[in-house]
Formats: sequence, structure tokens, C-alpha cells
Amino acid sequence: MYSFDFYNPTHISFGEGKIAELDTLVPQNAKVLVLFGGNSARSTGTLDEVKTALKQREVVEFGGIEANPTYETLMLAVEVVKQQNIDFLLAVGGGSVIDGTKFVAAAALFDGEPWDILLSWGAKVTQAMPFGTVLTLPATGSEMNSASVVTRKELQAKLSFMSNHVFPKFSVLDPSKTFTLPERQVANGVVDAFVHITEQYLTYPVNAPVQDRFAEGLLQTLVELGPKALSEPQDYDVRANLMWVATMALSGVIGKGVPHDWATHMIGHEITALYDVDHARTLAMVLPGLLDVRRQGKQQKLLQYANRVWGITQGTEDEIIDQVIDKTRQFFEQMGVQTRLSDYGLDSSSIDTIIAQLEAHGMTALGEKQDVDLAMSRQILERNL
Ligand code: NZQ
Ligand code: ZN
Repeated sequence: MYSFDFYNPTHISFGEGKIAELDTLVPQNAKVLVLFGGNSARSTGTLDEVKTALKQREVVEFGGIEANPTYETLMLAVEVVKQQNIDFLLAVGGGSVIDGTKFVAAAALFDGEPWDILLSWGAKVTQAMPFGTVLTLPATGSEMNSASVVTRKELQAKLSFMSNHVFPKFSVLDPSKTFTLPERQVANGVVDAFVHITEQYLTYPVNAPVQDRFAEGLLQTLVELGPKALSEPQDYDVRANLMWVATMALSGVIGKGVPHDWATHMIGHEITALYDVDHARTLAMVLPGLLDVRRQGKQQKLLQYANRVWGITQGTEDEIIDQVIDKTRQFFEQMGVQTRLSDYGLDSSSIDTIIAQLEAHGMTALGEKQDVDLAMSRQILERNL
């Protein structure tokens, strides 16, 4: 196992009715900016519940943060923070609202052009405003990590940053708040969490059985509960376990001390920025091709994944790997998430465009061994046409 530092200061308040605890989680004298997305927070009643829990505190609202939050919109929120002397931020929504709030928290105190936060991958962030979150969509893990992904529309660039300054102070996870999710978002969440786990697990062995078995347990839980979340949409226990899986998938725990491969995400981000495809769907259209093209470098972990997560043991090593890639693809499809570029109207000319954007953003040495160059990214996409 590699050496590592593990730091995660986020307080999790988990369970039905936990929004009421905002009164103790948010500082008593805070002037709070509540940030949310399109309309779901309001129409589901969650926004009102949050405002009730905040009691006498002064509250300002900022709605309209898009799925795949944009720099352009978030900079409007930064203005509100400054003009209204806001001193605490509260995100109410999914990964987009939480990521957006992280950016606002850092940008409001940033000396210089805030886009540099993204261009420096967060290295230039030296401080951020305090903020908490109320999660309404289990998927990204943003509620308990220090990452954020922001899109700058005018550049068609979707970039991420990480900083210890943007861990949420707390996150409220009430699984019953996910009952209102459309099927498509439930499926997206399952696939996104699944791929977060595989990107920290399907690399090469470093003798880290704690991380491996934790990752395998999370994957098995998704395989078991993902379809149930669609067929039994009002089952609290299913939603509760899915929510916790998604949080654990990217809270840092399973990824410490092991190699990572974020190539699927980096390629996927370009696809969202160019073609506005949901984040999770871009992952489903990249991962199977990536596992196929990189089967040699990942051989040992692919065989372990086949055996322990899917119970596949019959066949030659190559046949086992073929089977497990198929199983993974079928699982995404079973969740209603299609896995071919052509399913989303993309063709080989789209691949040229995606590759050009990868190049423009310096994504030329991806993967756990930095050997996914542009030619290999092209091969991966062609494999999934
Ligand atoms: O905008 P509203 O009306 O609120 O609707 C949202 C949105 O349209 C809706 N929704 C959320 N909660 C709901 C609900 N509808 C009904 N009931 C509820 N309870 O769902 C739609 C999608 O929301 P969004 O926040 O965009 O989804 P998700 O949580 O999947 O977040 C995706 C974003 O997170 C980034 C992605 O790149 C993408 O921008 N990621 C962030 C990561 C991180 N910070 O660590 C890691 C991930 O890999 C990912 O890249
Ligand atoms: Zn993701």
C-alpha cells in the first residue's frame, strides 16, 4: 500500500428529519445564502423545510444553478455574497449545487480572476467561506469531499478543482428527500457512484485488501440495490443505503493508498461540455471501452473484480475479462443508461472533436500509469461507438 494522508472534516447528519438539525449546525448569527438549482428544491418543499429550520437567521436565496454548474451563473452568486455581506453558504441540491457552492465559497475570497481556481486545479485556493449542504441526489460524493467541477460555457470547458478549504462543514443526508427524484437521476446516481469506485479500484494491485474489499462491498451493494431503487422507488432502506454508498464512494476512504485512474471522468467531462450529456451517461459510454482497451495493464484487478463482484470464474483469463466487461455494460443498461456513443447521437466526427478538446485541456497522459494518450483515448471511444 502507498503512504497517505487522510483528512476529512465533514460532519454527516444522516436520516429522516435531519434537516431540523440545521438550527444547531449553522452558526446562530450567520447571514446565510441558500443556493439551489432549477425548481426541484422549491417544488418538493425541501427549500421551505430548510428555511423553517434556519429559524430567525437572515436568509438570502440564490436559485438557478444549472446541472453542470456554470462559472457564468456562479459568478452572479459571488456578487450576491459580496453585496449582501453573506457569511455562511448552504447548498440545497445535488452535486451541481454543491460543487457550485464550493466554487462560490472559494471565489468570494479569491484574490485575482476566479477561473484560475480551475486552471490551477485548486492549488491557488488559500481560503474559502464556510458552507454546509443538504443533499437531495445521491451520486457524486461532493457532500463529503473537497472536489468541485465547474463548466465555463463560453469556452466549452468543464474543469475540476480540489482544495482542503472546500470540504463542507456539514452535510445533511435525508434519504427520504430522494423519493422525488426522476428515474433518470436515480439511475445516473447509481452509475456515477459505480464508476467512482471502479476508478479507484480497477487499476493494479498494491496489496491493499482493506480498500479492495471496501470497494467490492460498495460495488456489490450498488448491483443489488440499483435496480431496486427503480422498481421500489418509495423504499426508504434502499434509498438510505444507496445514499451512503454514493457518499462513501468518493469521500476519500477507498482511494487512499491505492492508484487511481480518472481517465473515464476526464473524457466524460469533455463529452458533457460539448454535447450536454448527463455526467453519469458519459461515464457509461466510456468505461466499457476503456476496460477493453486497457485490459492488459488492468488484468489482475479485472480478474479479481470478475470473481469477487460478479462471481465469474469460468473461462480463460481473456474470456473472463470479456464477460465482466459485458456484465458491467449490461448493469448500466439495466439501469436504463445506454453505453454507446451512437445511443446519444454521437459519431466518429464527434470523436475528433472530443479528442481536440482533450488536447486543448492538457488531458494527454491519463490513467493510473499516465499512458492514456490521445491515440488511446480515441481507441477507447471508437470501441464504444
Ligand atoms: O435543478 P433542479 O430543479 O434542482 O433539478 C435537479 C437537476 O436537474 C434534479 N434534482 C436534484 N435533486 C432532486 C432533483 N429532482 C427531484 N428531486 C430531487 N430530490 O436532478 C438534476 C440533476 O442534478 P445534479 O446536481 O446536476 O446531479 P448530480 O448530483 O449527478 O451532479 C452532477 C454534477 O456533479 C459533478 C458532475 O460533473 C456534474 O457537474 N461531479 C462532481 C464530483 C465531485 N464534486 O466530487 C464528482 C463527480 O464525478 C462529478 O464529476
Ligand atoms: Zn462522477
